[in-house]
Amino acid sequence: MEQVKSKKRVADHGEVFTNIREVNAMLDLVKQETERIDSRFLEPACGNGNFLAEVLNRKLNVVDSRYGKSQVEWEHYSIIALTSIYGVDILEDNAQECRNRLFDIFNDRYTNLFGQNCKDECRRSIRFLLSRNILWGDALDFTNPETKAPIVFSEWSAATGSMLKRRDYVFRFLVEKTHQFSLFNDQGDAAAIDEPVKDFPLVHFLKLGEDDTY
Ligand SMILES: C[S@@+](CC[C@H](N)C(=O)[O-])C[C@H]1O[C@@H](n2cnc3c(N)ncnc32)[C@H](O)[C@@H]1O
Repeated sequence: MEQVKSKKRVADHGEVFTNIREVNAMLDLVKQETERIDSRFLEPACGNGNFLAEVLNRKLNVVDSRYGKSQVEWEHYSIIALTSIYGVDILEDNAQECRNRLFDIFNDRYTNLFGQNCKDECRRSIRFLLSRNILWGDALDFTNPETKAPIVFSEWSAATGSMLKRRDYVFRFLVEKTHQFSLFNDQGDAAAIDEPVKDFPLVHFLKLGEDDTY
């Protein structure tokens, strides 16, 4: 993959993509976390997703080895893997490329494993999660570059059975209150960090994006 798209983009946005060797060397520094299905990763200048793609690959390797024999479990844990991967980029095309790339990584594995038994609703859930988790935004002023609306992230947590809980948070609060780029409280109670701006009812993991309310 090319590391530079154009000189103008390098000059305007510092857009130089990291090559896979460096990506893997850096991820190896937190190897255990990259292999934990529900560990949260946020990349505030994600480009087209070089780091996030590899995080997803590593998580899905674990999902394959643990749940490859059970379609429903594989679907559930792949969705959990995706719920905890976040990115922001100031260029809209990068955010879209990153979403498409993560979707393709998921979908290639899904299709290879389960072929004709794959469910469109599972793919819809993944697309919906990517639309919520990979955002077009300026990570320095915490807004959308065009609308200036504040960046709002969704926290996803696994509830009993097949259900997921979504809570939305304003990105600025997450950063300011924790004084670092840590997203939510990974081990504990996200509500301890801040009040969510919106709290959603529980939803089945295959029903994400089914209607406008979610
Ligand atoms: C050096 S590239 C790195 C991309 C990716 N992280 C990688 O390692 O391949 C920097 C990226 O940051 C984005 N960027 C620059 N300023 C930004 C800002 N204020 N907020 C969010 N993204 C920004 C650029 O569009 C570009 O995709």
